[in-house]
Amino acid sequence: MTKLKWGMVGGGEGSQIGPAHRLGSGLDGLFEFSAGALDHRPDAGREYGQRLGLQADRSYGDWQEMLAGERNRDDRIDLVTVATPNSTHFEITKAFLEAGFHVLCEKPMTMTVEEGEEIVKLAESTGSICAVNYGYTGYSLVRHMRAMIARGDLGKIRLVNAEFAHGHHADAADADNPRVRWRYDPAQAGVSAQFADCGIHAMHMASFVTGQEVTTLSADIVSCIASRELEDDAMVNFRMDGGTVGRLWTSSVAIGRQHGLGIQVFGEKGGLRWSQEQPNQLFFMPLNERLQIIERGEDNLSPEADRTTRVTIGHAEGMPLAFANIYKDLAEAINAKKESRAMDAAANLYPRAEDGVRSMAAVKAVAESGAKNAAWVDARPPMYR
Ligand SMILES: NC(=O)c1ccc[n+]([C@@H]2O[C@H](COP(=O)([O-])OP(=O)(O)OC[C@H]3O[C@@H](n4cnc5c(N)ncnc54)[C@H](O)[C@@H]3O)[C@@H](O)[C@H]2O)c1
Repeated sequence: MTKLKWGMVGGGEGSQIGPAHRLGSGLDGLFEFSAGALDHRPDAGREYGQRLGLQADRSYGDWQEMLAGERNRDDRIDLVTVATPNSTHFEITKAFLEAGFHVLCEKPMTMTVEEGEEIVKLAESTGSICAVNYGYTGYSLVRHMRAMIARGDLGKIRLVNAEFAHGHHADAADADNPRVRWRYDPAQAGVSAQFADCGIHAMHMASFVTGQEVTTLSADIVSCIASRELEDDAMVNFRMDGGTVGRLWTSSVAIGRQHGLGIQVFGEKGGLRWSQEQPNQLFFMPLNERLQIIERGEDNLSPEADRTTRVTIGHAEGMPLAFANIYKDLAEAINAKKESRAMDAAANLYPRAEDGVRSMAAVKAVAESGAKNAAWVDARPPMYR
């Protein structure tokens, strides 16, 4: 099978997330890194792209040049990843979708619910794939959690408890650091800081593993560092459309916590617990039985877990390999479209624009509820009410 051609906008030298995308897209030999506009500084982007192996004429100075250069090529890219700062996602994603490219957009997909709805409709009308990088759902054992819950191992799900709490913005002396300050400034970050940055990962994961969507929420938001206009900590209660009760804590001032993403699900017949910092173990407590530890890489866990693990049991698999699973799903989705066939159901798990717009509605709802003393509000985008 010929490799698909992959391009990236953003993710330049020294960026946080660019390397994980390059590793993830390249891992299974399904994509070839073929084009990029990697940096907001045109020359730096061109130079870095070539250093990474791009041909000079496909290492572009900016995304408009890349779009113009790629759209008429016979060997144009099959997928573009948008890994630029948040406020640029909508414009770049929209332009590439309009030109018929498949897109993987970093989260948050857009800055507003309205923009998110436009992207969903655009992907529908163009027939292009628009995925959103909730990359942590790519972990093999997160996929297995979803499979266990879907096949009824836990019975009806009563509670989901999700966390994404770190301590990287806890130093009050950092409040004026420009790399931190913009995140808490509504003019640059929108209506929410910590929930929009991290909370949406945890909330999406709650939906992903339970197979349910969030309907309403109540949020207690606070700026522990008082000079911040937007929240650095939030406690969100929510309800899901299958009757599950949700709890979510997100924070950027939780000193001592590193990445701090984790999820617990409790059903009538058992509980499951997974933490991203120990991603190779899933804790399963069946009702009235002993605790079981499920290891990533065990034989015959579930089709969803089995196809998303590569390294022998007992050796760690981490975040770039989780991203690789999103790319593996996308390669299957793109190839299925090219070959006019149905895609492998176990690969049909990549997060979509629909998930992106649901997150934007949740972000808006958290800000609204927080401003109203944690009143319960509708958390769904208008298009799904
Ligand atoms: N899914 C995840 O787990 C995850 C994790 C971290 C960051 N992110 C998201 O990834 C995005 C990027 O975050 P980051 O932490 O890598 O940021 P960063 O500031 O470290 O890097 C951004 C990169 O984009 C480049 N850039 C900026 N504007 C550009 C433009 N107009 N055209 C081309 N390149 C441009 C910059 O030069 C830089 O190389 C954000 O939206 C963030 O929310 C997602």
